[in-house]
Amino acid sequence: MTIVNLSMSSLRKRNCFFVFVLIVFVPFCLFVILSVPDMTSEEILVQRLAELQVRIQYLDAMYRSRQEDLQELTQHFDQLYNAENSSNNSLIQIESRPDIKQMIKNMSGLFAANGLNPGVSIKFPSAYHFLPHLLDNPNSLKLSYLMSKNREGVSLVLGIPTVKREKYSYLMDTLQNLIDGLSEDEANDTMIVILVAETAMEYILQIAKEVEIKFPLQIESGLIEIIAPSAGYYPSFDKLRITLGDSPERVKWRSKQNLDYAFLMAYCQTKGTFYVQLEDDILAKPSYITIMKKFAIEKTANKQPWIVLDFCQLGFIGKLFKTAELPWLIQFFHMFFNDKPVDWLLDYLITTKICNWEKNVGSYCNNITEMLIFLFQDNCKADKAKVWIHYKPSLFQHIGMHSSLKGKVQKLKDKQFGKVALFFPHNNPSAEVTSGIKHYKQYTLKRAYLGETFFWGLLPQPGDQLVFKLTTPTALKRFYFRSGNAEHPTDKFYNTTVEVKPLQPILNTNISNVTLDGFLIVGKFDSAGIATGTLDVSIGKIESIRLNVHSESDNWAILSEIHLQDESRLR
Ligand SMILES: *[C@@H]1O[C@H](CO)[C@@H](O)[C@H](O)[C@H]1NC(C)=O
Ligand SMILES: *[C@@H]1O[C@H](CO)[C@@H](O)[C@H](O)[C@H]1NC(C)=O
Ligand SMILES: *[C@@H]1O[C@H](CO)[C@@H](O)[C@H](O)[C@H]1NC(C)=O
Ligand SMILES: *[C@@H]1O[C@H](CO)[C@@H](O)[C@H](O)[C@H]1NC(C)=O
Ligand SMILES: *[C@@H]1O[C@H](CO)[C@@H](O)[C@H](O)[C@H]1NC(C)=O
Ligand SMILES: *[C@@H]1O[C@H](CO)[C@@H](O)[C@H](O)[C@H]1NC(C)=O
Ligand SMILES: *[C@@H]1O[C@H](CO)[C@@H](O)[C@H](O)[C@H]1NC(C)=O
Repeated sequence: MTIVNLSMSSLRKRNCFFVFVLIVFVPFCLFVILSVPDMTSEEILVQRLAELQVRIQYLDAMYRSRQEDLQELTQHFDQLYNAENSSNNSLIQIESRPDIKQMIKNMSGLFAANGLNPGVSIKFPSAYHFLPHLLDNPNSLKLSYLMSKNREGVSLVLGIPTVKREKYSYLMDTLQNLIDGLSEDEANDTMIVILVAETAMEYILQIAKEVEIKFPLQIESGLIEIIAPSAGYYPSFDKLRITLGDSPERVKWRSKQNLDYAFLMAYCQTKGTFYVQLEDDILAKPSYITIMKKFAIEKTANKQPWIVLDFCQLGFIGKLFKTAELPWLIQFFHMFFNDKPVDWLLDYLITTKICNWEKNVGSYCNNITEMLIFLFQDNCKADKAKVWIHYKPSLFQHIGMHSSLKGKVQKLKDKQFGKVALFFPHNNPSAEVTSGIKHYKQYTLKRAYLGETFFWGLLPQPGDQLVFKLTTPTALKRFYFRSGNAEHPTDKFYNTTVEVKPLQPILNTNISNVTLDGFLIVGKFDSAGIATGTLDVSIGKIESIRLNVHSESDNWAILSEIHLQDESRLR
């Protein structure tokens, strides 16, 4: 009886779901249809419908997880009541079919006749199978900390795992940058979930406090949430298998990272339509949310099946998924958390889903060597690229030099460091230098100007300027700026001009070479990253010389040589 009621209520729930869809989406669709402006409206309509489509996928996934709960309950009741009485299911109906009855009758006396409807089910593995330590603690899947306003149903959920770092934590810089890049509209349709992947409650509270003090409005609005797992979620990391010949320290680090990602994804799954994996040490480009959303909707509107949209070339940063598909990843990470780093697992998962070995290997069957070479290559690259779609240029960039793995340096290449000249010092006229580009570590513009090191700045943006204001106005003969260096050859200035401010008003010069604020454009960085030139005597003494950036850069920028030559410095 109870079971019948349950399945009835399941039916009712299903109806509710469709009624809900009717009430919410049909008017919305009509609204969309009616409110689009004419002419190019078809495109917009297609996009909106695509948006609704992915949204329905999300709601459907939510609905499915409710169904799962129901199914589990039903099974419990099944066990409580006699199977005979329990339900209207097909197994019981089979027994009552006349032909089957007859067959059973014909088999009387045989052991085989007793096999029907035994009331035995198989059990599929769950997370507990792959992570048996979860059973040791009844609270293993409970959060140990949650700061939330229960926001839900946004378009994009950004997941940021953070751990305690030996040196500097970039979390606040990362959040500031992410929030600076959000318009109000975008902020209303986004969530940023921070997983503090630590078990020391003092540290979790400290982070939560810092975030709230720094971003009170964003906490209040529910834009930012903070979660932490309970200690029981983690296995004993000292008992991990050593895999891939890595150091125990590294095995521990990457195994934990797998579990952290799985936890964060599982929490975020119900919060919105798309999930974007980020890290706690990144910079994002302006409008990153709108760009990602638009790209995702576009792919869906074009009926292009995809699994990952990739907005950053590095590791696992800036990977966008449909939340409805996160269970694939979560399960995979749980199964192999001790075996491979998280970014490899993503690659293997997609490979497993997409690649056809038979087709690809088949053509090499005659030659084993060729086949082996082929196997070691990424032979289904093209197939994978169709569902793992890269967006260029990247929207995210690492700012962390120190990985959360102790002692692992991300950007600096220790092996080569110091073997080659990374900067070229000169004796320059005394000047006050200011940089609109944030410098990294000790690589300041001032020290570069003095010839102590090179200047290293984060991601130049249009309008950024490096200004050298001469203490005494001087007639410069020649200037020489070299960007990039041997270790970071791509960290050059691109689309950047050299401009001088003459002491005397500019006469007699072509207006196309004068900026609005009265600087004379005297040079430009070339493709080799060099800007050099001589100044005409007619310019006379100058007050200052500056570098003016006109385009956004995908790279950091290094200034490895600065040479301003006046009369006294020319030989
Ligand atoms: C099965 O249902 C019948 C009638 O509803 C009832 O008489 C009987 O006791 C039930 N058997 C069990 C094992 O619950
Ligand atoms: C049992 O199944 C039959 C046919 O599938 C259906 O007509 C009937 O309504 C079901 N009974 C209940 C109580 O669900
Ligand atoms: C049952 O057995 C009888 C005699 O062996 C045979 O004639 C009949 O076809 C069998 N029925 C079925 C359903 O197998
Ligand atoms: C964002 O949400 C807030 C609170 O719901 C609302 O007051 C505000 O108007 C929204 N802004 C936009 C641009 O939708
Ligand atoms: C400015 O440049 C234009 C085109 O480059 C040229 O025709 C013009 O003569 C120049 N004027 C002066 C004053 O040099
Ligand atoms: C403007 O400046 C560039 C160098 O920045 C020079 O090559 C060009 O000849 C100048 N044009 C005029 C018209 O002065
Ligand atoms: C340099 O920047 C200006 C202003 O943003 C832009 O119009 C121009 O196309 C850029 N040039 C190059 C080569 O990127």
